[in-house]
Amino acid sequence: NKASMIVDKDFRVGEVDKRIYGSFIEHLGRAVYGGIYEPDHPGADEQGFRSDVLELVKGLDVPIVRYPGGNFVSGYNWEDGVGPKELRPRKLDLAWRTVEPNWVGLNEFMDWCKKANTEAMMAVNLGTRGPDEARNLLEYANHPAGSYWSDLRASHGYAKPHAIKTWCLGNEMDGPWQMGSKTAYEYGRIANEAAKVMRWTDPTIELVACGSSSIQMATYPEWEATVLEQAYENVDYLSLHQYYGNRDGDTANFLAQSVGMDSFIHTVISVCDYIQAKKRGKKKIHLSFDEWNVWFHSNEQDSKLEPWTIAPPQLEDIYNHEDALLVGCMLISLLKRADRVKMACMAQLVNVIAPIMTENGGAAWKQTIYYPYMHASVFGRGTVLVPLVKSPKYDSKDFTDVPYLESVAVYNEQLGEVTVFAVNRHLDEELPFEIDLRSFEQSRVIEHIVLESDDLKAVNTAKEPNRVKPHVGGNAAQTDAGKIEATLPKASWNVIRVK
Ligand code: AHR
Repeated sequence: NKASMIVDKDFRVGEVDKRIYGSFIEHLGRAVYGGIYEPDHPGADEQGFRSDVLELVKGLDVPIVRYPGGNFVSGYNWEDGVGPKELRPRKLDLAWRTVEPNWVGLNEFMDWCKKANTEAMMAVNLGTRGPDEARNLLEYANHPAGSYWSDLRASHGYAKPHAIKTWCLGNEMDGPWQMGSKTAYEYGRIANEAAKVMRWTDPTIELVACGSSSIQMATYPEWEATVLEQAYENVDYLSLHQYYGNRDGDTANFLAQSVGMDSFIHTVISVCDYIQAKKRGKKKIHLSFDEWNVWFHSNEQDSKLEPWTIAPPQLEDIYNHEDALLVGCMLISLLKRADRVKMACMAQLVNVIAPIMTENGGAAWKQTIYYPYMHASVFGRGTVLVPLVKSPKYDSKDFTDVPYLESVAVYNEQLGEVTVFAVNRHLDEELPFEIDLRSFEQSRVIEHIVLESDDLKAVNTAKEPNRVKPHVGGNAAQTDAGKIEATLPKASWNVIRVK
């Protein structure tokens, strides 16, 4: 029972677009208020942003953050969030049954992005609104000066345009839970018309159309085909969303779910290529996997919350060790299709199904899932090499032939480094792993980072923030020119760095 992987620097999947390590801040729960922004917190900066949270975000090296939703955006009037704060209205958010005070809006979020060394992926409301508001928002955000909306921005203290490059055309418009949900044809039409006027306003932008809300939607994958039939010419990316849970307490099956993510990605690429062929098009549509994560722990607690309060503790999943393993597998799934998946957002970033948790007025700490996300974002830049993997396999409730080993290698040509990411899905046994780096004969192991735990359900909390954290005690070592051997502990996430 041994696993192996062969990689060669001449066999490449594609360049990693750093935006696959994106994340998401929605006006939902304590993501904004109590998360990134808390003016009364002892560590708040002059604008009210929490500096402890900023430090943790910077540690992830997040290149892009989707904003302001999510379901929230489908009922959002962006104008409520700009201008003098004392004049901003309190509005009901029907998506999450809360009150939105509008203390943070577009301009504050752009300031936060600068402080966090990241850029924004902005979503427009195609639920209760449409192309007119979308073009106005874009004019406000990106037009240099000399028009109503750009001059209004300047009068709000932001003379320089924000130059936001990436825009989402609505959110999950296939879902009946969405304000203003639509059929695929209705959405495809409005997405195309919004895309046209947005491009005419600023031809430098890139646009993401909504794909299915999950692989379980009855309209998947016909939705993708119909939307692209209408909007192919004017959009650049199609979105994918997927969340997983371990509701039955069946960990082997839970960890196998990224195999479903692989086939989701494969199918959406196929649909994009089918429409390209049908249209005799030159342009490839790329994928933006702009919501992905584990989400289920908080479902029951959320059903008991009182409606119509400001920033209640919604979607506050507390992640355990096995969740970090699935997150690692999902990151590997994204990397394996680096040729077509050009953006992805872990949903979300702070407090709401997030790698970072805070207490109001108190501590901020790293959840278990912070670590695989950080490792991939920091070490997974460069070129993905084709992974020829052999692994023993298992069958679970919903999946057959699930490899115990999930692995991929990224070659950073500039640094002359190769990083191998690997998950051992086996819950009881370690896995011997041989890596054949035949075109890197001179290379030596720099470090072998391991995330493991004696308890799959172990979590990090404010009181015990370091219960689950990685160590550099893995045993990967070079055995021969270009050959590395390692033992992957049972149920572990591994980062093997070679130079
Ligand atoms: O990320 C939480 C929610 O999940 C988002 O608002 C929505 O787009 C999805 O259903």
